[in-house]
Amino acid sequence: MSILFSPSRIGGMTLKNRFVRSATWENLATEDGHMTEKLYDVYRELAEGEVGLIVTGYANIVEEEKPNAGMMGMYNDSFIDEYQKLTSIVHQYDAKIVMQLAYGGTKTTFNVGERVIFAPSEVAERGTQTLGKAMTQQEVDYIVEAFALATKRAQDSGFDGVEIHAAHTYLINQFLSPYYNRRDDQYGGSLENRMRFLIEIYQACRALVGNDFPILVKLTASEFFAGGATFDETRVICKKLEQIGVDAIIVSGNIHGNASSLVGESFDGFTLQQEGYFHEYGHAISQDVNVPIITVGGLSDIHAIEEMAENTGIGYFALSRPLLAEPDLIKRWKEGQRDEVDCERCSKCRTKRGNFCVVYNKRK
Ligand SMILES: Cc1cc2nc3c(=O)[nH]c(=O)nc-3n(C[C@H](O)[C@H](O)[C@H](O)COP(=O)(O)O)c2cc1C
Repeated sequence: MSILFSPSRIGGMTLKNRFVRSATWENLATEDGHMTEKLYDVYRELAEGEVGLIVTGYANIVEEEKPNAGMMGMYNDSFIDEYQKLTSIVHQYDAKIVMQLAYGGTKTTFNVGERVIFAPSEVAERGTQTLGKAMTQQEVDYIVEAFALATKRAQDSGFDGVEIHAAHTYLINQFLSPYYNRRDDQYGGSLENRMRFLIEIYQACRALVGNDFPILVKLTASEFFAGGATFDETRVICKKLEQIGVDAIIVSGNIHGNASSLVGESFDGFTLQQEGYFHEYGHAISQDVNVPIITVGGLSDIHAIEEMAENTGIGYFALSRPLLAEPDLIKRWKEGQRDEVDCERCSKCRTKRGNFCVVYNKRK
């Protein structure tokens, strides 16, 4: 049996295989972030489909700030009962589930103008051009505490862990970035200062849930533009995360929408790959730290994934769009039908009726 289907551990969590459903916003929650029958079905289907670890779509940690419609919420205790139901559904299939927690920030065009959107500094997001409010110390403390309270709620709801979203130009990523973070206080300037917000968040979460509850962090390998955070800086951040006890690091990029068009190009000494865009970066990090590394982005071929598992230090393989196209992909591969996934990487999977594959999986 392939190493991909051998059990292993992330912190105290035992996983039956090395496949992860990467965090995927489904656009199926109610307006205030509560569960719907369709959303339960999505998770049941993934668990039935033999995904070892399911990461939820990003959940907002404060009620007043939501970067997208139909995302899950974790901003007060009213969610705990329904997430207990969700986690017990998933656990019936011997799958694990962690909740991704996020503060969005300026990478959004959703209802902009109707709310205050926090940012490290008043620098417009490069894609959306949305401007945020530079956070005061009190606002930093408020968000740190909100992450911690949401993590505690996740533990009380039966989740197997949480994933802190520090990638994709969302708020925490912006603090890490010298382009977005122009602060001259203890949160800006040196890399040590820029990572302070993430570390404070992690430590506040850890303090509320104890050492046995897995806390994962999703990072952008590099910002892939001049003046942004570099891969060398990310490597330093990962060493710090190892030191403070983070249970796993997901190495992503902030360019998943157009990564396919950049395949073959080199940034910061490593090259974006056709199969597993960022896996060279993930492998390099795995050589620096003794923390499980999860690669995400552009995985579709089990033969190539197997090779990566054997020849790199990457321990886990996360998929998003492929599991929208084929929610039972992992089961299919396990049963020996090892054709590549039916996913064109067209990224047309975001619809107003919910996010699903409009090409291959029209059942929704
Ligand atoms: C519809 C959709 C929703 C997504 N939602 C999230 C999210 O909530 N949190 C997150 O970190 N990434 C999110 N992503 C990014 C994926 O987790 C992943 O990093 C990216 O799609 C690359 O992986 P893939 O090639 O397997 O799709 C989303 C991607 C898609 C297509």
